[in-house]
Amino acid sequence: MAEYMVIRGGRPLEGTARLPAAKNSVLPLLAAALLCKGESVLTQVPRLSDVEQSVAILTALGCRCQWRGRGLAVDGAEAGGDGALPEGPVRAMRSSVFYLAPALHRCGRVQMPMPGGCKLGPRPIDIHLDGLVKMGARVQWQGESLTVTAPGGLHGVDYSLRLPSVGATETLLMAAVLAPGQTVLRGAAAEPEIADLAAFLTACGARIRGAGTPLVQVEGVEALTGATHTPIPDRIVAATLAAAVASAGGRVKLLGCPFEPLAPTLEILCRAGCTAEHGGNTVTVSREGPLKGVGRVYTGVYPAFSTDAAPVVAAALLTAAGHSAVEDTVFENRFACAEGFSALGGRAVRCGRALEIEGVARLSGADLRAQDLRGGAALAVAALAAEGESRLFGLAHIRRGYGDLAGILRALGADAACRRE
Ligand code: UD1
Repeated sequence: MAEYMVIRGGRPLEGTARLPAAKNSVLPLLAAALLCKGESVLTQVPRLSDVEQSVAILTALGCRCQWRGRGLAVDGAEAGGDGALPEGPVRAMRSSVFYLAPALHRCGRVQMPMPGGCKLGPRPIDIHLDGLVKMGARVQWQGESLTVTAPGGLHGVDYSLRLPSVGATETLLMAAVLAPGQTVLRGAAAEPEIADLAAFLTACGARIRGAGTPLVQVEGVEALTGATHTPIPDRIVAATLAAAVASAGGRVKLLGCPFEPLAPTLEILCRAGCTAEHGGNTVTVSREGPLKGVGRVYTGVYPAFSTDAAPVVAAALLTAAGHSAVEDTVFENRFACAEGFSALGGRAVRCGRALEIEGVARLSGADLRAQDLRGGAALAVAALAAEGESRLFGLAHIRRGYGDLAGILRALGADAACRRE
């Protein structure tokens, strides 16, 4: 039976929404729990398919995982084995790469196929592997199968990342915390999720300075205990809801929403005609009048406008009078959603890494298919502005990052629901 989201556009959004914990924090945090010989508890964990895949990997490596209400406990006391990661979960998400360093520490080796995830263009893992090799690991490819071993264990290193990869910074941070000696990571990514991972590791006994800046310093320790930790709120869900308000109109208060990480997205939406107020970890986004084009905007590494927010912002700009262009400097194929935008009557053309948009006065409901996670959410955002009914298929992509997107939108007054037929 095909499952799809039905959205009837044209209703403004009103109300409040509390942000869930950030997927991009929770997934590395779950992998980091494998580094710990005691129990770790993440107190707020959204029910995402990527979280379920992470639980499957942790369980295969000997961890005991248990849901406790909205918390997820991971006990790594008995972890070990041959470090062979289960193929299905590894191929289902890019974040399986986070198990490289923890499995190396706990099992002495790791074997896995190439991680899956959204098809945003080439997504090599060379920086993860190069850093691990400099720390003493050996890497062997047999066709698609990757085996990494650390016969003499890992050791501290002074390492410059060739570009500020979020995932590679997290991999090397997880490798460094249990590697004897000092590690210095230069040119590290500075996303807030990295500081969140470091906060958890520090609570477990790790010695880290500078996480969340381009220069990270780690003093390896012998063991980590496990800790209870509340992951940071999801700035991409926040961006999605802010863009949804821009698309549908209305006024929505985002609770538990720090302003800084959302600021570049809000700056673009305000240029298009929205209003944003903030204070006390609450951001209120509203849109009453028509939208206008914003010219060319670029994504970049943090603190610039986030690549993950690019498709949802582009969706809102489909009805902004005049020209907009959203260019993603991080991934080559960010706008697979362009086809769906056109099906709705939007004038959006891919040009290299950019989406060139000429605003139209109206969009009309259509059958749509999510091709990836954020592009899928972007189609839902665009459908909120479309007259008539849209059916959005390919929900598995969206469930990787949004617990219940239709439910969240419905609670804000949208006519949105999931159906099977
Ligand atoms: C993370 C986020 C993702 C976000 C991205 C960029 C998680 C779980 N996912 O993904 O939502 O869109 O950051 O903010 O946190 N690269 C290499 N070699 C490597 C690693 C990366 O060439 O070894 C390239 C990638 O192909 C890409 C760029 O570096 O072009 C950025 O990727 P990276 O920061 O690593 O993204 P992810 O960690 O995969």
